[in-house]
Amino acid sequence: MSISIKTPNTESEVIEAYNFVKDILKLPEDHPRNLHFYINVFYKEPKYIVIAKEKDEVVGAVLSSEQDENTLLVGELAVDQKVRKIGLGSKLMNEIEQSARILKKKQVLLGALNTAEKFYMKIGYVPKLFVQLSGNNRLDEIKSHISDKIEWENTGDGFSKVIVDTKGVNKKLQRNIQEELNAHTQYLFSKNLIQ
Ligand SMILES: CC(C)(COP(=O)(O)OP(=O)(O)OC[C@H]1O[C@@H](n2cnc3c(N)ncnc32)[C@H](O)[C@@H]1OP(=O)(O)O)[C@@H](O)C(=O)NCCC(=O)NCCS
Repeated sequence: MSISIKTPNTESEVIEAYNFVKDILKLPEDHPRNLHFYINVFYKEPKYIVIAKEKDEVVGAVLSSEQDENTLLVGELAVDQKVRKIGLGSKLMNEIEQSARILKKKQVLLGALNTAEKFYMKIGYVPKLFVQLSGNNRLDEIKSHISDKIEWENTGDGFSKVIVDTKGVNKKLQRNIQEELNAHTQYLFSKNLIQ
């Protein structure tokens, strides 16, 4: 089996890659990073998208964009079920990290699905827990459940949000916060890039 990994050359390859990840990740029609978003990304810089193809068929893809001057945000990653656990997801992430270096980014950031947390740990990403409660000025309620260092906090846009340096994936803490506060939680993963 020969799988090639490449950035897209044409808009139709971006459409193929988007439809591939949309199907596997079951992205809703109103997903904020939609096809139009990634077509714009492609015309600015094709290196933000990496596709794995076996003959002419897409079997994996990673879609990213610029979060800020120093950060590349991986929005979506998916590998076809029939070619999982043979290193393709790692290769796609390696390639997007290489793009990030070329684009002078200092880190790669992403929000993980529960089922992919172990994968990101294996490839060297560091997890931090994002917690979001609806309503302003509820930071103290969140903090009362947390003893780890709070890295970032924000309130005022109708939500109270924190990012916690959990020093690893702490599912018990995540469950407690979800159940006791009825909060939305997700592990964010990042990797600092060495140029
Ligand atoms: C997550 C995903 C991209 C991983 O792709 P993959 O090609 O199977 O990953 P790799 O083969 O490169 O795996 C690298 C390592 O992570 C491990 N791993 C991969 N997926 C894993 C999982 N779901 N749970 C635990 N470990 C996993 C592999 O066993 C391998 O470990 P090893 O180095 O000890 O052998 C793929 O499972 C997928 O597309 N899942 C559905 C969509 C998804 O969850 N996308 C991520 C959204 S955040």
